[in-house]
Amino acid sequence: MDQYGVVGHPVSQSWSPFIHGLFARQTDQALTYRLYDIAPAQFRGEVLEFFAHGGRGLNVTVPHKEAAADLANELSARAERAGAVNTLMLQGDHHLIGDNTDGAGLVRDLERNLRVPVADRRILILGAGGAARGVLGPLLDLQPAELVLANRGADRAINLATLFADLGAVRGCGFADLSGEPFDLVINATSAALTGGVPDVSPSIVGRDTVCYDMTYGKADTPFVTWAQQRGCEHAYKGWGMLVEQAAESFYLWRGVRPETAPVLAVLG
Ligand code: ATR
Repeated sequence: MDQYGVVGHPVSQSWSPFIHGLFARQTDQALTYRLYDIAPAQFRGEVLEFFAHGGRGLNVTVPHKEAAADLANELSARAERAGAVNTLMLQGDHHLIGDNTDGAGLVRDLERNLRVPVADRRILILGAGGAARGVLGPLLDLQPAELVLANRGADRAINLATLFADLGAVRGCGFADLSGEPFDLVINATSAALTGGVPDVSPSIVGRDTVCYDMTYGKADTPFVTWAQQRGCEHAYKGWGMLVEQAAESFYLWRGVRPETAPVLAVLG
């Protein structure tokens, strides 16, 4: 049977086996999908071993996305832009292709599931790490009026914005530089929730009509969703949709069949 899985460190918290298991059942695809907890020092060797012994595809999560980009023989344009790979697939017996479905997953959740437009809107992304980098290209492709990238450390945001400046109206700044009109869409791409925190930004970025989207997810409300609601935001979403949509996009790349995401989201969200 074709073997798939998700590689991370740690990875036991991953929902991917559950999601891909539902996709496989729904589309009648015979495959296995397992968790692989692999430390950075073993990443290259173990991944090559997996593909040498029946592995057909892997999802890649923290902290291996950059290492996966280095390992792949070929990168999709969007993975090249992101500098990170969340999906590896074997073509033939030896050719490893790296792709990145994170941005497509976010865009699909915003536009198709939540009906939140991006084109011509003012968008704020909080955070300038790997999570932000993975979604910048697909968001700019939709031509927002303005995309502001804000980070605790301003330099990192300014540098990242520069890398994407050829794609559209994007600029980087520090949290302290945010003031004025509320944004149409605020996306939390920081890892602040890992320590139970929220980015320390001015409440003026959120108005009643602002949509807040947290890339973090969990069964309970996330700190950022709670923060947004306390500031009067009526449309604050956790990142389950992005998780399920990026998985569906990976599944499609591997199997050529696009699974329905709504039934899976109904179980999770
Ligand atoms: P990821 O792949 O999740 O993006 P990362 O590359 O380590 O992980 O980046 C983490 C991001 O979350 C960074 O933008 C980081 O800000 P700094 O560059 O200033 O460190 C941000 N971050 C983490 N904890 C935060 C907190 N408590 N408040 C605000 N931003 C935070």
